[in-house]
Amino acid sequence: MYRTKTCGELRAANIGETVVLSGWVQKSRELGGMTFVDLRDRYGITQLVFDENKNAALCEEAKKLGREFVIQIEGKVVERSSKNPKMDTGDIEIIVSKLTVLNTSEIPPFTIQDDTDGGDDLRMKYRYLDLRRQCVRKNLELRHKMAFEVRSYLDKQGFLEVETPVLIGSTPEGARDFVVPSRMNPGQFYALPQSPQTLKQLLMVAGFDRYFQIVKCFRDEDLRADRQPEFTQIDCEMSFVEQEDIITLFEGMAKHLFKTIRNIDITEAFPRMTWHDAMKYYGSDKPDLRFDMKFVELMDVLKGYGFGVFDNAEYIGGICAKGAATYTRKQLDQLTEFVKRPQIGAKGMVYARVEADGNVKSSVDKFYSQDVLQKMKAAFNAEPGDLILILSGDDTMKTRKQLCELRLEVANQLGLRDKDKFACLWVIDFPMYEWSEEEGRLMAMHHPFTSPKPEDIPLLDTDPASVRANAYDMVINGVEVGGGSIRIHDSQLQAKIFKILGFTPEKAQEQFGFLMNAFKYGAPPHGGLAYGLDRWVSLFAGLDSIRDCIAFPKNNSGRDVMLDAPSAIDQKQLDELFLDIKEIEK
Ligand code: AMO
Repeated sequence: MYRTKTCGELRAANIGETVVLSGWVQKSRELGGMTFVDLRDRYGITQLVFDENKNAALCEEAKKLGREFVIQIEGKVVERSSKNPKMDTGDIEIIVSKLTVLNTSEIPPFTIQDDTDGGDDLRMKYRYLDLRRQCVRKNLELRHKMAFEVRSYLDKQGFLEVETPVLIGSTPEGARDFVVPSRMNPGQFYALPQSPQTLKQLLMVAGFDRYFQIVKCFRDEDLRADRQPEFTQIDCEMSFVEQEDIITLFEGMAKHLFKTIRNIDITEAFPRMTWHDAMKYYGSDKPDLRFDMKFVELMDVLKGYGFGVFDNAEYIGGICAKGAATYTRKQLDQLTEFVKRPQIGAKGMVYARVEADGNVKSSVDKFYSQDVLQKMKAAFNAEPGDLILILSGDDTMKTRKQLCELRLEVANQLGLRDKDKFACLWVIDFPMYEWSEEEGRLMAMHHPFTSPKPEDIPLLDTDPASVRANAYDMVINGVEVGGGSIRIHDSQLQAKIFKILGFTPEKAQEQFGFLMNAFKYGAPPHGGLAYGLDRWVSLFAGLDSIRDCIAFPKNNSGRDVMLDAPSAIDQKQLDELFLDIKEIEK
């Protein structure tokens, strides 16, 4: 038997027992004729003691142990003279009587501890060593527990977990597909699913009624902290439901996860905000509501006083940072530089402090009388000690997005984005379409299978851009953790939507014929939602990037540096697949 106990479970109650443990050598040190070894496994660390006076030969063996050697020991549990309250096993240690080296190890390229000396690239290259660190491992334990709780909740609600294929045709969701060449069908390609969207709809046509799947999805898009090219969805679909049914059920699941994972009771319903209001007041379809700083529009207040920048603007708006009038000139200049960065693109920033006597002192005082500035103060409900920050621009949507970045930055600086605080929100009434400059046409904002709000259907013919969808996102702390919609289940309406999206009937038939045909055979009304599992886990674990809760993630260039993937394939494989590689232009 390799072990009778794990390295995390021995306590004072075990004193006197003889135990066998196996694990990795975390570190060892010699002190006054004794050798102490920290033995680690998945469950914790236990201190081993080799006493030169009692067994000199064994102590010599112990001195040869290197970091990350895999060993098995037998020994007696004794009370520690100097207890370590920071360790679960800190009350005891093991006096070792037998040592077997199960495997040696080269010196690891970085220290296997929470505050490691290993940089990002090195840790990713040796991810199996990185995963030995407790702080990384516990994220994966949390992930397991969440997936388990998701299954438990959905099973109780009568959902069936059904696997859908990974080699499919393209299901456009706004990103590029990863494709896989087919050897048996020369010149043809599978696409990896961006989500199982159409398949889960077909399961509804098949009568499955309540489906879910914890499923890998693949999207060839630019990476960010909350995006990976392959990620995991908790994908769900239901029949005979309206938006309200779905919102209720999945809000219930969110509350179940808050309770079982974080022991947080949420009793009230999550607030809801229309997409329109989210954009108007927060400049984002995923506002972080842990703090206020709602936008205030100032067109009426500040236009027409000779300040050209504002006079010519299509939008003037600002935020009020409570108690931030103490910001120095230097800090304000840095904020101005922040909004002027090319990624944000504002031309400048105007600021105003509300002073102790209630007077407003602004960076554009020469254009505005105290009277006007007081009107502005009133618009924000600002008080002495508050700081008002204003942006303007000739494109309302763009300026609001810039103001959104400023709002988040100021909140970061003021420490308002506490990772242990959670603000949940449903964003509803998304537009059906958004204009794509790149494509020069309307694109589905959610996906082409989303149904319009019934009252907006007449607008499909007259003003499609203003049609609202039966679509909803769940947002927590400014992160979109899930999204879904009520689907179209009528083949004629679906054909009309494809037409608005610029598909010819032939193209629609070629790409989505299978779905439109299925709709001819009694498709029930249906809808659903998909949560991003990686995002949920990183939110609950307080991580900055979803990478840290994925066992083997990709880096920012989409590479797995450990496997060295993607990589070239040899000529034989290319020949079998009838593929030629074009000269790559540098
Ligand atoms: P959507 O595209 O909104 O909807 O995706 C659902 C959820 O998946 C997560 N997510 C991601 N997580 C990590 N990396 C990514 N690249 C990534 N992309 C998306 C987000 C998001 O909210 N078929 C629809 C769902 C439906 O309508 O039922 C869909 O895929 O948390």
